[in-house]
Amino acid sequence: MTIKKWNARLSLLTILLLLIHEGYQLFAYITFYYNPTLSKVSGYAVAGCFVLHAILSVIGVAVLHDAKGVAYKRLNIRTVLQRVSAVLLILLLPLHIFSFPMLKSSAGSFGYVMVEAVQIIFYATLFCHVALSFSNALVTLGWLSDIKKKRVIDVIDLIICVIMLIAVSVIITTTHAKMFGQG
Ligand code: HEM
Ligand code: HEM
Repeated sequence: MTIKKWNARLSLLTILLLLIHEGYQLFAYITFYYNPTLSKVSGYAVAGCFVLHAILSVIGVAVLHDAKGVAYKRLNIRTVLQRVSAVLLILLLPLHIFSFPMLKSSAGSFGYVMVEAVQIIFYATLFCHVALSFSNALVTLGWLSDIKKKRVIDVIDLIICVIMLIAVSVIITTTHAKMFGQG
């Protein structure tokens, strides 16, 4: 259970850093205030936790089966989606990190639309993984045991994730379109 608990703490820290990275990027895109250092520090801080969390998750799930005694643990559709989204995140992360130069070099071509589409798929996958996982971390840490409360938290979490997905997709793609003279 120890690795699982450390992984749950780390995953909550990752969510916090993600909110900072996302908040900073949205601020930068809305105000056109761009600070490369803040962008890199916030982005690579999330990336560091992301890699550690991915390693601990693989060890916990595949190697140690370190989940005995956790009430929510059953291989249901949620767990399958959680794992599929995890694999997709790893595959799409490089494209996210290098999306800006790729958009710049492909402006005006079909490749530009593809890069934006894959970016939105990356954001959707990320919010899907977080919406499916957040309350599980609270259960793992022993902060949540009531199944009804867990369902309420899941619904609130899902609503927040859907709103953030729409906000992020609209703000970032429309600002890119202005920057690169699209549409
Ligand atoms: C919904 C969530 C996210 C949003 C809205 C977001 C937004 C952005 C944007 C707009 C950029 C481009 C900055 C630019 O060059 O103009 C960026 C860069 C970056 N992002 Fe994210 N990101 C998200 C999730 C993540 C995740 C999960 C990671 C890491 C695991 C990450 C790591 C990075 C890194 C390393 C960069 C490059 C920073 C740079 O070179 O300045 N992002 N992000
Ligand atoms: C910024 C990106 C990510 C965030 C915010 C995040 C967040 C979370 C959270 C909160 C949990 C619940 C922890 C628990 O059940 O105690 C979780 C579980 C999980 N995550 Fe992530 N995650 C991210 C990326 C990834 C990646 C890249 C992988 C790739 C391996 C991954 C694989 C998993 C797996 C397999 C679980 C289930 C672990 C278990 O049941 O023990 N996650 N994630």
